Amino acid sequence: RLLIIDFGSQVTQLIARRLRELNVYCEIHPFQSVTEAFLKDFAPRAIILSGGPASVTDPGAPRPPKAIFTLGVPILGICYGQQVMMDMLGGKVVRGEGTAEFGRAYVTAPDERIDLLTGWFLDGREQVWMSHGDHVSEIAPGFTVHGTSPNAPYAITADLNRNFFAVQFHPEVHHTPNGKTLYENFVRLAGFTGDWTMAGYRDEAIRKIREQVGDAKVICGLSGGVDSSVAAVLIHEAIGDQLTCVFVDHGLLRQNEATEVVAMFRDHYNIPLIHADEADLFLDALDGVSDPETKRKTIGKLFIDVFQKHAAEVGGAEFLAQGTLYPDVIESVSFSGGPSVTIKSHHNVGGLPEKMGLKLVEPLRELFKDEVRALGHELGLPASFIGRHPFPGPGLAIRCPGEITRDKLAILRKADAVYIDQIRRHGLYDEIWQAFVAILPVRTVGVMGDGRTYDYACALRAVTSVDGMTADYYPFTHDFLGETATRIINEVEGINRVTYDITSKPPGTIEWE
Ligand code: XMP
Repeated sequence: RLLIIDFGSQVTQLIARRLRELNVYCEIHPFQSVTEAFLKDFAPRAIILSGGPASVTDPGAPRPPKAIFTLGVPILGICYGQQVMMDMLGGKVVRGEGTAEFGRAYVTAPDERIDLLTGWFLDGREQVWMSHGDHVSEIAPGFTVHGTSPNAPYAITADLNRNFFAVQFHPEVHHTPNGKTLYENFVRLAGFTGDWTMAGYRDEAIRKIREQVGDAKVICGLSGGVDSSVAAVLIHEAIGDQLTCVFVDHGLLRQNEATEVVAMFRDHYNIPLIHADEADLFLDALDGVSDPETKRKTIGKLFIDVFQKHAAEVGGAEFLAQGTLYPDVIESVSFSGGPSVTIKSHHNVGGLPEKMGLKLVEPLRELFKDEVRALGHELGLPASFIGRHPFPGPGLAIRCPGEITRDKLAILRKADAVYIDQIRRHGLYDEIWQAFVAILPVRTVGVMGDGRTYDYACALRAVTSVDGMTADYYPFTHDFLGETATRIINEVEGINRVTYDITSKPPGTIEWE
């Protein structure tokens, strides 16, 4: 296995992701925990030193133990990792006044290519992503230069006798388009065959959960979404009935959703599950509320109370499991505390673990959405479930602009079910990031048969997106839209007009509130 020593770069997880894509097993450990004893026990076949915000010119700068250089395994240093290598092996690093470099750069190389660079420089130069203040001013004895950029004379360096490589740029990020090849070359020359799979990840995750939790009890908030479901099934595999799931039904779920979730987890997976049917509590609290932020806050606050109440039934739990993904981790690191405007207060259970005095188990913290889906597949969750569109925490409340009533919710559920059925029948579900119906707070006049109708109008929404941050409306054909409108009006009593929302994000948001 490969050891990534983390010096705190925002993109360290991307290194792990690139390696997983190459079917190589790796673990990230913060530099503080990598001691000589740890190294002996871990016995890495190769080591990568990540980037990081510190300066090696500072007295207390983070360093790996010297022992890594005598293990006889290949080492790759990236950015700060390069600087720390040079500094420890006898080169020089200078503070970056005036030589800082951020963003795209182009590296060129001498004609003779080392193995690390197989497949590189086919067009003479390579685009790379730089992000550094300090730079190496003198390379360590034994190293040679294999790539330079205008601002980084030591962009790629290597000690070929010892298989030490050190680069100034970040090969793991998207803006270094050929970066994956560099990792591929590195792991190949370290002797990895690329035979590790998601099944391996699952086993490893199970081992870590057992180690963390011991014989304590764990509570998991199950939303019915992909992330919390995968987390729950994984944790249940690890610790069995030490896990109890709490599924809060706030009465704002889609058609049959609660029944399906309960059937799947309680009956199929035999996971202890508390089904907190609190629809009345939530809907009564929302009575007469039409302001979107008030809706969100009302639901968020009640959710925490209800969750706490039901979790207490478990008695003596020490851990709270959450389906936090890596992008959530980066977002909360880079945006927390910043002066940003609240567009929508997002519904999540942040703050809950402290409030309840629980420790966190977050087995998906290193994964990206598509990897969570792959893991779900590995755990045997049905494909239709794994591929489900995202669904917001406040549920149908934010798809019902204006006041929420039980009648409107019932109409909305039916219309939404017809719409999704249409999308599935036409084979479009997987092309769309998210699709749903919003019921509008207006009634309009129509004619059906010989009679006048005066019913609600609804809007169909369907968007494509990669991360939900930006989105485009989905270009359905007119035939599809016409057929869907007809079906909804015929099959759903209470709706007599259907519109299609063609707003992109920005300026719109995906949800209506
Ligand atoms: P917007 O409407 O902000 O939505 O463009 C972006 C994505 O986030 C989802 N969303 C939420 N998810 N809690 C969630 O867990 C929320 O409060 C929430 N509000 C919006 C939305 O469905 C879309 O995928």
